[in-house]
Amino acid sequence: MVNSTCAFPRLLHIDASPRGDRSHSRRLTREFVEAWKKTHSTATVTYRDIGRNPIPHVTEDWIAAAFTPSEKLLHQMQSALHLSDELVDEFLAADIYVMGVPMYNWSVTSGFKAYIDNIVRINRTWAYIPDENPEFPYKPLVHGKKMFVIASRGDGGFAPGERNHQRDFQTPLIKEAFGMLGVTDITFITVENDEYGGQKLADSIASARTQIAELISV
Ligand SMILES: Cc1cc2nc3c(=O)[nH]c(=O)nc-3n(C[C@H](O)[C@H](O)[C@H](O)COP(=O)(O)O)c2cc1C
Repeated sequence: MVNSTCAFPRLLHIDASPRGDRSHSRRLTREFVEAWKKTHSTATVTYRDIGRNPIPHVTEDWIAAAFTPSEKLLHQMQSALHLSDELVDEFLAADIYVMGVPMYNWSVTSGFKAYIDNIVRINRTWAYIPDENPEFPYKPLVHGKKMFVIASRGDGGFAPGERNHQRDFQTPLIKEAFGMLGVTDITFITVENDEYGGQKLADSIASARTQIAELISV
C-alpha cells in the first residue's frame, strides 16, 4: 500500500531507462506517480531522470572525500562530493520512492548502479559500527521509507522456481543495497517479455498496471 501517514508526503521519482517513449519502466513509473498524486493532493514530487542524464561513476577523488571525516575535508575534496551530497539530501528528504529500473545483463543498468554508489554514503546513509556487530558492521541510517520498483525485463520467468530465477541479480541487488541503508519496505512490480512482444508483453504490462492500481487504492 502506498498511503503515507505524513500530512505532506514527499515522493522521489527516478527513471533509470536510457530509452524514452519505448521504455516500459518509464511509462509505468509515470502512471504510478500520476495516480498517486490524485490521492495525495498535498504531496510533492521530485523527479530525477538518471537514464537520460546519467550520474557519473565514483572516482578516486570521490572515494578519498567520502571516507574523510567531514571536519577534515578540504574545499577541493568537498567539490568531488557535490552531486553525491545533492543526491543523498534528495533521497533523505523523501518519504516514498518510485524507481523505474531496467534489467541489463541480469542486473541493474550501470547508470542505476552509479546512483546506488553515490547514495550509499558512510555517515550519511549508513554508519560503520564494528563494535555493535562484528559480523555485519554496517548500521542503517535511513528509516521509515517505502520504495516501489518497476523492474522491466526483456525475458520472463524470474519468479522463484521459474527458469530464470537464479539469473535475477536485479531484485537481490536492489534489496541488499537499499536494505543496508534501512530501506527494507520494497515492493517490486515487474514488466517482463519485452523481447517477445505480442500477447506475452501485453499480459505482463496489464498485470503491472493492475498491481499499481491495487497499491494506489489501498
Ligand atoms: C544492454 C541491454 C541488456 C539487457 N539485458 C537483459 C537481461 O540480462 N535480461 C533480460 O531479461 N532483459 C535484458 N534486456 C532487455 C531489457 O531489460 C528490456 O528491454 C526492458 O524492457 C528495458 O527497460 P525499459 O523498457 O524501461 O527501457 C537488456 C537490454 C539491453 C539494452
